[in-house]
Amino acid sequence: MEFAFDVRGVLPDAVTRVSRDQLPGLRNNQSRDERSQQLATIVHKLGAASSKAQGLRVAVTTYQKLMASSHTLYLLRDDGELPVVVGLLKVGRKKLFLQDLLGVQRETEPMCVLDFYIHETRQRAGLGRRLFQTMLDIEGLKAAELAIDRPSTKFLSFLRKHYGLHLHVKQGNNFVVFSQFFQNFSRPN
Ligand code: ACO
Repeated sequence: MEFAFDVRGVLPDAVTRVSRDQLPGLRNNQSRDERSQQLATIVHKLGAASSKAQGLRVAVTTYQKLMASSHTLYLLRDDGELPVVVGLLKVGRKKLFLQDLLGVQRETEPMCVLDFYIHETRQRAGLGRRLFQTMLDIEGLKAAELAIDRPSTKFLSFLRKHYGLHLHVKQGNNFVVFSQFFQNFSRPN
């Protein structure tokens, strides 16, 4: 996605991490307001495209929601002839009651994948993997440790292909975890 301003000013890295507590640094001559406005424009456009791609009426990711939460957003920039923003990935911890493979309910607070999107023109080219793996490396997590909020068919296929995750444990809520998720829990007596 293209913008009327140079996105490298507000997204200094190929994958930039954004949260309420960690906004990207200011460029020379750039005011805090200008930076926030540009970031809000990027998040608004990507968030709207993601919700459209998932058939959702309301955007899961907006700048306002991000600033009002403890969630973390990863934005993927691509520098072709013109630097563009090609994807987003939003994660955050949530308290969840999850049933393990034996049907035992566990109180957990896993990192959850809340929104994931790569621009339609750039899907199936490895960019999703790049963004997702960067998030895992920065957060110090393995894919199997995540809970996924209403994964799409494409996302399930992505996790199967890149991370060998296929056996998911059905939950009463909208979240999906994989069988390996429960390996760190002790067995019930
Ligand atoms: N149909 C089926 N599987 C797909 C598709 C598709 N159209 N697109 C990607 N995949 C899966 C496949 O496993 C594919 O491997 P293959 O091409 O060998 O079949 C693999 O992803 C490709 O990996 P990447 O290129 O690294 O992934 P990509 O850049 O396409 O990003 C993503 C994956 C984010 C799921 C992207 O396809 C997308 O934005 N889809 C639309 C939005 C969406 O469904 N987001 C997830 C919603 S759920 C949530 O956010 C919690």
